[in-house]
Amino acid sequence: MPKHSHSLPKYAMREIIEPFRIKAVEPIQFTTPEQRLDILKKAKWNVFLIDAEDVIIDLLTDSGTSAMSAQQWAAIMVGDESYAGSRSFRKFESKIREIWGLKHVIPVHQGRAAEKILMSIVGGKGKIIPNNNHFDTTRANVEFTGAEALDLVIDEGKDPDSMHPFKGNLDPEKLRAVIAKHRDSIPIGMITVTNNTGGGQPVSMANIREISAILRENGIPFFIDSCRFAENAWFIKQREPGYESKTPKEIAQEMFSYADGATMSLKKDGFGNIGGFLAMNDDALAEHARNLVILTEGFPTYGGLAGRDLEALAVGLEETLDEKYLEYRTATVRYLANRITAKGVKIVQPPGGHAVYINAKEFYPHIPATEFPAQAFVCELYLQGGIRGVEIGSVMFGRHIDGVEHPADRELVRLALPRRVYTQAHVNYVCEVIEAMYETRDTVKGLKITKQPPFLRHFTCEMAPL
Ligand SMILES: Cc1ncc(COP(=O)(O)O)c(C=O)c1O
Repeated sequence: MPKHSHSLPKYAMREIIEPFRIKAVEPIQFTTPEQRLDILKKAKWNVFLIDAEDVIIDLLTDSGTSAMSAQQWAAIMVGDESYAGSRSFRKFESKIREIWGLKHVIPVHQGRAAEKILMSIVGGKGKIIPNNNHFDTTRANVEFTGAEALDLVIDEGKDPDSMHPFKGNLDPEKLRAVIAKHRDSIPIGMITVTNNTGGGQPVSMANIREISAILRENGIPFFIDSCRFAENAWFIKQREPGYESKTPKEIAQEMFSYADGATMSLKKDGFGNIGGFLAMNDDALAEHARNLVILTEGFPTYGGLAGRDLEALAVGLEETLDEKYLEYRTATVRYLANRITAKGVKIVQPPGGHAVYINAKEFYPHIPATEFPAQAFVCELYLQGGIRGVEIGSVMFGRHIDGVEHPADRELVRLALPRRVYTQAHVNYVCEVIEAMYETRDTVKGLKITKQPPFLRHFTCEMAPL
């Protein structure tokens, strides 16, 4: 009998596919361009004021918008809703201890609650808290206590064209200089992974190690804002020599081994629709934090979350470290970035882990900052394709506390990708809309603000096209 010769495939597949099948679907409501013009007029040209069901593809944020897995939904059914000492909290705590290696785990309803509690303890007038870049809510919680939120990202992190592999790194020399001058005013040092404010850019292991060493030499506790820790671990695996064969979990464990504490919004790399935690090694700090948690969040074994949330989050934290998932996640962002840059669209390079940031100043060079080019892009994106992005430019940052208009440093549009929600075809559609917008970009006009609140105006201000 002839021997069966089984030929194994010789061709290595290049296509990176979604590493999941879809079991439950949520229908998209389609709109026509005429309907969208009407909707945008009613929303006063502010996409925050549009109902989500009038959006075809929603790229407003990657926070709390993830799709949960079948395993997460199953875990929800075994949630223990006991007020104190819930079994679900023990699962949550043990998963976080396994990855973060920190002694005290305090659940909270979302990231900013962890920041609020931490800053109420360590902040205060005259204090300085260094970070690569403070995220808005972190900055707000630092400043609310009267402390200064100091951004010390490396210079390459501020250059949109720099291809530095770790543009989220905190500059060690800048940190040494601040410590030399203000040692006694620095209660903690922080690093945000990935650096959301800087474009979702990763921080290298070498940098985390060095910053930790500098802070510890000076007796300053080191906290990591770990919202996108799994995406950061993946970039370390891809880009930092010595980490190629380590698993994302091993990399994350090493990242946190250099930290004394962490804040976390589980609405990002926790695959949760809500949730967060504050963790640390220091017993006295933990006791103080738990007392504050009881005041605003609830008993420290649920911290504002249902037992079912704690269950789903413990599962999500394992799934987020899956290599196939992280490969697909970062490939999606890269694909969107590469396709639109091939057309000529300028973005913050290299694309980060959760979003693409489009440079609207270069897209619409004929629209001055005073006429909000990034907001014009956001409105056009909605009109052309029903896609919602967010302006990060002079609408968001252009009016200072004195009420005077100062154009922002950059006019960016952030397209943030919810986790496991959209398919390749959805991303292709986004690319096609932006490519079409590029063809007609000369015809687009800017906007003016017609009504605005005294602060954080981007959420509610009203605008009109010029
Ligand atoms: C880096 C970073 N830190 C903190 C937060 C705050 O988290 P939350 O929205 O859960 O309060 C966010 C949210 O976007 C973030 O991106």
